[in-house]
Amino acid sequence: MLTNLADRLKGVGMKLCVIGLGYIGLPTAAMFASNGHYVTGVDVSARIIEALSRGETYICEPGLGDVVHWTVSEGRLIAKEVPQPADAYIICVPTPINPDRSADLSYIDRAVRSILPILRKGNMVILESTSPPGTTRNLVCSMLSESGLIPGRDLYVAYCPERVLPGRILKELVSNSRVIGGITKESAIRVRDLYSCFVRGEMYITDSTTAEMCKLVENTYRDVNIALAAELAMICENLGINAWEVIRYANKHPRVNLHQPGPGVGGHCIAVDPWFIVQRQSGTARMIELARRINDSMPRYVLDRVKTLLKDINGVRRVCVLGVTYKPNVDDLRESPVVRLISMLKAEGGYSVITVDRHADYEGSKGRELYEAVRGCHLLLLAVNHREFEHVDFRRIKERMAYPCVLDTRNFWRAEEVETAGLSYHLLGWGKEPNEEGPDGGVPIPAGGGVRSSEER
Ligand SMILES: NC(=O)c1ccc[n+]([C@@H]2O[C@H](COP(=O)([O-])OP(=O)(O)OC[C@H]3O[C@@H](n4cnc5c(N)ncnc54)[C@H](O)[C@@H]3O)[C@@H](O)[C@H]2O)c1
Repeated sequence: MLTNLADRLKGVGMKLCVIGLGYIGLPTAAMFASNGHYVTGVDVSARIIEALSRGETYICEPGLGDVVHWTVSEGRLIAKEVPQPADAYIICVPTPINPDRSADLSYIDRAVRSILPILRKGNMVILESTSPPGTTRNLVCSMLSESGLIPGRDLYVAYCPERVLPGRILKELVSNSRVIGGITKESAIRVRDLYSCFVRGEMYITDSTTAEMCKLVENTYRDVNIALAAELAMICENLGINAWEVIRYANKHPRVNLHQPGPGVGGHCIAVDPWFIVQRQSGTARMIELARRINDSMPRYVLDRVKTLLKDINGVRRVCVLGVTYKPNVDDLRESPVVRLISMLKAEGGYSVITVDRHADYEGSKGRELYEAVRGCHLLLLAVNHREFEHVDFRRIKERMAYPCVLDTRNFWRAEEVETAGLSYHLLGWGKEPNEEGPDGGVPIPAGGGVRSSEER
């Protein structure tokens, strides 16, 4: 049986070392520090360490600045470029994807190696980074063994993933339920007890590989669901009906929850995590891989619609793209499908692209004003439904555009409002123009383009 420092310290007042102070590591470090522990935050970025030493954070997250400022000024959170001896090490480094779509585990490798010289018997080592199944048991534990200490006997080791939503991280760190996977049951229990200083959600204990798979399958479920919606959008365009209307009504079924189509899936989680399963189980993870490929194909699909819409324009076709980030109301460009769409448009030749996005700077997008950007454009492409794009003056837009064409990839605008301003409205997933005549020459029931229910907003 391990005799551990945690026994003596009974929950609070422990020394913790959080390695990687990004979107996950810094809020986690701040939560532990504001709930009774002494935390060293470690990052390889000198810029982050300097900012944190002054009690400042570069991450824009509600409430985080105040907690960081308070914990640093109280001496409960300090910043260092190398790990310091601690009772528990919490690893929150990136796990990006390699060009061959395998997980890049080199950051985990370096983070674990950085603690080997200071590890002591009874320490906890916790991996938070999203990882392929088996990473904790195989990669992390085999590296930890190089310290001479044996994981499970001398060290408590667990995988403890995050489910937080950027923009609500501090709240969700507290209220979300967690799955904690230990390499032994005792490891999982120790880690659960550590997190119980601030987590109010349920904490479920399992083995580390099951916990890794839970994390991956949560995002994979969403990726597959979005791929289904994307496929439905393409089918509905071919059938001349409106996929958004189909989804809205299908979701009235008490056990159906279809997601929404769009120009693709981005971000560092949903667009990446399913590949970590495919990597380990290629050949078996067939639907997961297909869904990934469908979502990856959506920028190309939107590109083809743009080409069709602008086929009659001679000379350079000018496209104004609204929103570049991977999802609305965030500043994150990682794996953004809109960035890929823009690159494809440019590679096509004969297109010029101007972007507007006050959240993130992509080729000047941040400082650009919408009504100036659309001047002389042939297409206004709504790529991300940032809240500031919800109410725009379509008449002002029409006055400035060289060709009155709008492509809405998010079902964010009302067809009637856009068309009343004299612009032609096109919606991803809608194969029929509004009020088009039916086959018998009569006027059919309008197919509900650009009409949203409150739950879709
Ligand atoms: N951001 C999210 O919403 C979210 C949600 C769930 C899971 N995750 C997962 O959490 C992990 C971290 O994600 P993130 O968004 O915080 O990443 P991030 O890129 O924001 O931050 C990672 C930080 O780690 C630092 N770092 C890299 N190598 C280091 C090393 N050897 N030692 C010390 N610091 C090092 C980097 O400088 C960076 O500041 C990833 O595996 C990610 O998939 C993220």
